[in-house]
Amino acid sequence: MEVLLLTLSIFVFFFLLHGLDLYHQRQMPPGPKGLPIIGNLLDIGPKPHESLAKLSKKHGPLMTIRLGSVTSVVTSTPDAAREILQRQDEVCSGRMIPDAVTALENHDKAVLWISANKDWRTIRKALNTYLTHQHKLNTLGGLRQNMVDEMLEFLNQSALKNELVNIGNLAFVVAVNQISNTCFSRNVTNYESEDIGGFKTAVKTLMEVDGKFNVADIFPILKPLDPQNIRRQAKAAYAWLDNVVQGFINERLKHRELKLPRFGDMLDSLLDYSEDNVEDFNLIHIKTLLVDLFIAGAEMSSNTIEWAITELFLNPDMLAIVRKEVSTIVGEDGKIQEVKILDLPYLHTVIKETMRLHLSVPLLAPHKTEKEVKLGEYIVPKSIQILVNVWAMSRDPKYWENPLSFMPERFLKTEVDYKGQHFQFLPFGSGRRMCPGIPLAHRVVSLMGASFIYHFDWKLTHAREDMDMNDIFGLTLLRATPLVANPISIE
Ligand code: HEM
Repeated sequence: MEVLLLTLSIFVFFFLLHGLDLYHQRQMPPGPKGLPIIGNLLDIGPKPHESLAKLSKKHGPLMTIRLGSVTSVVTSTPDAAREILQRQDEVCSGRMIPDAVTALENHDKAVLWISANKDWRTIRKALNTYLTHQHKLNTLGGLRQNMVDEMLEFLNQSALKNELVNIGNLAFVVAVNQISNTCFSRNVTNYESEDIGGFKTAVKTLMEVDGKFNVADIFPILKPLDPQNIRRQAKAAYAWLDNVVQGFINERLKHRELKLPRFGDMLDSLLDYSEDNVEDFNLIHIKTLLVDLFIAGAEMSSNTIEWAITELFLNPDMLAIVRKEVSTIVGEDGKIQEVKILDLPYLHTVIKETMRLHLSVPLLAPHKTEKEVKLGEYIVPKSIQILVNVWAMSRDPKYWENPLSFMPERFLKTEVDYKGQHFQFLPFGSGRRMCPGIPLAHRVVSLMGASFIYHFDWKLTHAREDMDMNDIFGLTLLRATPLVANPISIE
């Protein structure tokens, strides 16, 4: 009798659970029918943003996708994105931590990946005191200028030797050094092809593994096996970076103990902030944050520069306008002045148009629902991944005339910008998880892009019509074929 009762209760329990699940499924947005176990895995190709954009056309602005055990709601329209990132921002601002990231010793403090909890709020507040602060960024303008001077020297040498330059690689080195100078007032890598110290390699490895499709993320049972060797690679790179950054912090602590002059950089600001908030923000937070900034910032900025230069090479009349505009802010020393570069309207439209057509992050870093939430007419349960397909929105003909053409002038006629209020154009996201690096990225991309164009003519190795414009999906949308060209110094 007891066994019968037990069996009956188990049956009733599972029946109710199933009923509840069906109830939730009924409330979720529609989506393509998937296969058992793998779900919609076969519907998603090597470029998920493109596959999802196609599927959304059929299933609607909010769509449910299941990959293994992970259910996601995908949005591909500005209205649905506004609902998620603005109206329901708080509930939708969680994050899923990829298995690769768990290789980072203190991943529960990593601003990029943790949910919007107390730690996250403290870190974002610390970033506000420095990274988004125009005045503080201005004070380090000299360091960024030095790096551009070094880059120009390298390009002059390449021009003299008639050597080809890999523009993406060069931009990556400059971007890494721009961040390291902003953080620690020092360069961490150089312009030669080999990677002195391994900093560049470690950052590149992490960008690659953190953005790679990992079967263990959708079948958590496989995590201990790490079948694609992703966590192991991430662990080695994280450990290396962690160690180097810890070394910089130790040096700085000694420097401060000896009461030597302050550097006034981000590390000084974060240490000050930590002294004022001992309970909430300690040296582990600082180390993890500094590692995160390299991963979040370097490739995004250099990738944007590489695409912008590619488009200008393809459009010589636009290149000529940029060059003329930049010439108006060259000082008597022949250098481009960073403070003035932010006001150049045409250069700014070229950067915006590059970000529209060649989005660095085609699907915003996945968000997650923190509790059940009503999105439009649907009810989405807690812990559902949310994918915002900003790539689809920035090419939607409903919002953009000739969306596949590179037309910077379109931004001269509109107020649309990337500050997160125009939902058809979200290269930096929107709402509380929006990128805090916009002011730094704006400076780095403008200054480096302008310097490439103003100081050099460039000779391509092939005809313009043969330029490969394909991209590869990862944490960022990279050029499939690196852009290489010969610099020719302009006297
Ligand atoms: C062109 C350059 C850049 C682009 C296109 C870009 C884009 C983005 C995007 C799309 C996100 C995710 C937003 C979301 O989840 O909704 C993000 C997050 C972030 N970015 Fe950037 N970014 C750039 C440069 C930088 C730089 C230079 C830094 C700092 C050095 C930086 C630091 C961060 C951080 C810390 C986050 C995580 C924010 C959080 O999760 O709370 N980014 N960025």
